[in-house]
Amino acid sequence: MSKKIASARISQTSSKLLQELNNSLPFDRLLYREDIEGSRAHAFMLAEQGIISQEDYEQIEQGLVDIYEEIERGEYLLDGDEEDIHMAIESRLTDKIGDAGKRLHTARSRNDQVALDFRLYVQKNTMVIAELLLQNIETFIQVAHKNIDTLLPGMTHLQHAQPINFAYHIMAYASMFKRDYERFVNSYERNNYSPIGCAALAGTPHPINRKTTAERLGFKEPTLNCLDTVSDRDFALEILFNISTMMMHISRLSEELVLWSSSEFGFVQLSDKHATGSSIMPQKKNPDIPELLRGKTGRVNGNLISLLTVMKGLTLAYNKDMQEDKEGVFDSVKTALLSLKILNEMIDEMQVREDKMQEACMIGHLSATDLADYLVKEAGIPFRDAYHITGSVVNLAEDKGLDISELSLEDLQSVDERIAEGVVALLDNRASMNARQSEGGTSSIRTLEQIDKLTQWVKLQR
Ligand code: ARG
Repeated sequence: MSKKIASARISQTSSKLLQELNNSLPFDRLLYREDIEGSRAHAFMLAEQGIISQEDYEQIEQGLVDIYEEIERGEYLLDGDEEDIHMAIESRLTDKIGDAGKRLHTARSRNDQVALDFRLYVQKNTMVIAELLLQNIETFIQVAHKNIDTLLPGMTHLQHAQPINFAYHIMAYASMFKRDYERFVNSYERNNYSPIGCAALAGTPHPINRKTTAERLGFKEPTLNCLDTVSDRDFALEILFNISTMMMHISRLSEELVLWSSSEFGFVQLSDKHATGSSIMPQKKNPDIPELLRGKTGRVNGNLISLLTVMKGLTLAYNKDMQEDKEGVFDSVKTALLSLKILNEMIDEMQVREDKMQEACMIGHLSATDLADYLVKEAGIPFRDAYHITGSVVNLAEDKGLDISELSLEDLQSVDERIAEGVVALLDNRASMNARQSEGGTSSIRTLEQIDKLTQWVKLQR
């Protein structure tokens, strides 16, 4: 039987099924810290404004602190039949301190209360995720530092294209994480406004001070319009979108790790700590972690689409549909935190197989573009003609079973006499990689510059 402390006009006990459908305590109990934090700030403000007495405030404050400790110690399990976390804490408080507890909800509604609790939760986790992103960027930077000379076939369409170095490849992911970090921080700033004091939808006749609560809770200032505030879940959508985009990046890297750790590529070896075996094939070492990270991207995308869909037809202001906002966010946040922690560890401890990467650079005539560029630059040949001459050189190399970088000067000149000495050196894969010295390019010098810039940027964030 549900204690109906919040139902003045409902006479009958709720049906069991209604309770099952309606009660959010089984999942919103996760918000107990935020709920208590918000109530303490609200009570402080009520007392300061003379809306409740100082004695009542002191009792409320002590009662809330005690409840917090009971929960932390595992003495109060929040497993009662109250509708939600807000009702649970309030009824516990009233059980403990009597009438003073009943005054806490003055000038407040669960609509602004839930908007506050949930926003506090999202804001807090936004910054935890941002910090983990920085840690991952630092790990990428470390791996990159060790690999500015490690040749690797750069690809398009998953086909060998041009020689690059491994640091350059890793720095591409570091750049994605930088954007992710900025997205989280931007969202934090955009949503850093306090919902409390909006009451049900229209504000309150009590002489409250929303600036006081905003300041105590670490917000920049109160939100502008209460009707919007109690029905706004953009902050939740933003964290879901930010997580989805970040997980999409993690998923792309994971896909590469799955490929790279296969016998076909062999570019990296994941530490035994981060691989699993097969129950039947004793020789197997499977990349379950990157596979799971790739898979988890599906579920966070689902959470984003769910909430977008829940919100799309809602009239102003609060509707109970909005109770569906929490579980997906809790799930995405949990997934994001775990994914970032394990990714960091895995990247830090994976072994880079420079030999295998270098070997792979001998497949696919990676430096062919360098020959065409040479013919344009040094022999004044129009690019399209140079392109065809290079095609013939590639055919010759294929006929001889060689890579273009292994052809002799005589071989090259047999295709076109304008190819002069010195070209052989240009077609070396490392020379080709280092020739790409344009800003943001793959040469070791330019890669190092990218590493330095990002290192400076990380320092500025802290
Ligand atoms: N448990 C509710 C939720 O999560 C709290 C707000 C309830 N408000 C209301 N008017 N019934 O959305």
